[in-house]
Amino acid sequence: MNTPALAVSDLRIGIRRDGAPTIDAVEGVSFTVAAGQVLAIVGESGSGKSLTALALPGLHQPPVTIRSGSIRLEGVELLGLAPAALRRLRGSRIAIVLQDPMTALNPVQRVQTHLIETIRAHRPMGYEEARERSRLALARAGVPEPARRLQSWPHELSGGLRQRVVIAMALVNDPAVIVADEATTALDVTVQGEILREVRRLARDSGTAFVWITHDLGVVERIADTVCVMYAGQVVEQGPAGAVLAQPAHPYTRALLDCVPARQRAGTRLNQIAGAPPSAGQWPSGCRFAARCPMVRDDCTRTPSTLSVLEGTDMPRSVRCLHPLTP
Ligand SMILES: Nc1ncnc2c1ncn2[C@@H]1O[C@H](COP(=O)(O)OP(=O)(O)OP(=O)(O)O)[C@@H](O)[C@H]1O
Ligand SMILES: [Mg+2]
Repeated sequence: MNTPALAVSDLRIGIRRDGAPTIDAVEGVSFTVAAGQVLAIVGESGSGKSLTALALPGLHQPPVTIRSGSIRLEGVELLGLAPAALRRLRGSRIAIVLQDPMTALNPVQRVQTHLIETIRAHRPMGYEEARERSRLALARAGVPEPARRLQSWPHELSGGLRQRVVIAMALVNDPAVIVADEATTALDVTVQGEILREVRRLARDSGTAFVWITHDLGVVERIADTVCVMYAGQVVEQGPAGAVLAQPAHPYTRALLDCVPARQRAGTRLNQIAGAPPSAGQWPSGCRFAARCPMVRDDCTRTPSTLSVLEGTDMPRSVRCLHPLTP
């Protein structure tokens, strides 16, 4: 079997507070992404998506710590790797795109400087060759007139173009994995749709594996091969995106789907999930979704739910629910 581009196993992320015990904000996150595949991680605000995103390339900062688990990039374990070795992989084999492109762009540098420096940080290359490689990266990220755009300053670009430049920076060294955390959330729907199409094409044509983080199931539907649904720091359901969205097994996934307006009959009220998720560290002893679950039963509040393989499905799916929904 081929080594997956990224294999995460039982990742546990803690937050260390002064004088208090470390809180496990994320736990039991396991997934693999093969070359050319897009895995989406979806969940409400505070579910631990960004903690997971930053941990993958080792960009988390104190008080956040990785407590246990494994992150293998092309078979290489990243946890415990020396900082210099991790820095070499970051930007060359794994890259990250965040929501605000200006965090990655220097306002006093032209587009080409960003790209050329990203290339040369990882390998020696002559200026003209690096510039041509940069132009190709812009074109692959869907930037129109890439030769002209090399000369642009960040402030001359629209939000959508800036994000495409950041995506070009992420892919300019042909990494195995690109992690994107709400990368299109701030953009208008048309631009978002174009970028999602571009990403699908990149995955297919370049074999890049993507971890695409979003709070929007509509985005999952358009981009993902597989999906992890997160709730209160845990994966509650995962499997092939089409199957999970068509027939969710976890009541939380079902509730999220009911919030997507396009799926509802015209005129019905947008169904928001009532209540709020528990805060990190204040986890209830049973199922973390029990307090908001429309299907809750007595044992749900007492027995912690574990992620188990869902029987009776063609493709591998798992769900963290004592009483999963059946078709
Ligand atoms: N640096 C930090 N210090 C303390 N708590 C943190 C830190 N980063 C995240 N948290 C907490 O961990 C939990 C998960 O945060 P995270 O940012 O991963 O959520 P998210 O799923 O990305 O949400 P959103 O959709 O709003 O971006 C939250 O309760 C948050 O308050
Ligand atoms: Mg986030």
